[in-house]
Amino acid sequence: MKKKNKRRIKITGTGFYVPDKVLTNLDLEKIVDTSDEWITSRTGIKERRIASDDQATSDLSIEASRMALENAGLKAKDIDLIIVATSSPDTILPSTGCWVQKGLGAGNIPAFDISAGCTGWIYGMIVAEGLILNGAHKRILLIGSEVLTRITNWKDRNTCVLFGDAGSAVVLEESDDESGMLSSYWGADGNLGNLLYMPGGGTRIPASAESVTQDLHCIHMKGNDVFKHAVKRMGEASLEALKSAGLEKEDIDYLIPHQANSRIIDATGRRLKVPSEKVFTNIHKYGNVSVASIPLGLHELWEEGKLKKGTIVVMVAFGAGFTWAAVAYRW
Ligand code: ACO
Repeated sequence: MKKKNKRRIKITGTGFYVPDKVLTNLDLEKIVDTSDEWITSRTGIKERRIASDDQATSDLSIEASRMALENAGLKAKDIDLIIVATSSPDTILPSTGCWVQKGLGAGNIPAFDISAGCTGWIYGMIVAEGLILNGAHKRILLIGSEVLTRITNWKDRNTCVLFGDAGSAVVLEESDDESGMLSSYWGADGNLGNLLYMPGGGTRIPASAESVTQDLHCIHMKGNDVFKHAVKRMGEASLEALKSAGLEKEDIDYLIPHQANSRIIDATGRRLKVPSEKVFTNIHKYGNVSVASIPLGLHELWEEGKLKKGTIVVMVAFGAGFTWAAVAYRW
């Protein structure tokens, strides 16, 4: 489904947080049968961050939120809704959103989580847009945070080299000028759910001694299938979002694809014929941080002064579900 906006929402502050602990490819060589050469050439990842034992997803979210609020010139009491996109919540219940609300001291505002794999943050943008433009909320804190290394199987070299931990947050408000979210496109295919999933811990396979022994509480993935679908869907979603916004591929100043694998990022850029210098990447530093990867990229571009008034950014993600979504955005 796609949508073009006349009224629009905009990002008025961005923030991020990554844990201090760095795990390099050389460190991983000591844990599983892999090599820096294999990981670098197949994924582009050189290192990733690992949350400390006392850090959960809400802790990373709170740090990122404080930065986003400060950059927006706001206090926690100024926001009226918290949405957290995550696949690695502190607890199944309550939501991570509620832990963040408590930690920020944001008062009794509503808070909830979105689960859409790595696409969750863009899904969150689309949900927040609806809530702001229909007048239900004025200032939404949209968080994308993960501690994926807690649901990673450290014996499985197919997956454990890929993921990292990070928090991100943006403040969203209605735009009073030409800037903001121009259009969006989102989709899902539940038929492909078991190509990337965590089988245990829900009501299908509740936790048991057996489920733990079988590593069912970790991410299971058919990497090749994810790869093929990701490239196809991210290309399609970007084109649909551009079309709805009345823009051409040539109008893109920056493409921020979900940072899953440098080969997926490059292939998506090539499909859209976006020159490589306009395709954002930071996967070498953080690995795949799922929902945090796009807002983190946006924050880095903003910090580097690359987002000027009028800059056109296309943000596109793909994740478990499968889910996919893109947003065309004028800074
Ligand atoms: N080190 C060394 N060898 C490895 C490793 C490793 N870490 N992992 C796999 N291999 C081996 C395999 O065992 C296989 O060996 P074999 O030929 O003897 O059987 C060989 O490398 C090739 O394996 P492939 O799976 O074909 O490797 P591929 O080139 O497809 O790369 C990868 C694997 C990196 C996982 C790739 O498929 C990929 O990135 N897929 C997308 C994954 C992804 O992005 N997932 C998350 C997206 S959604 C989300 O973020 C939640």
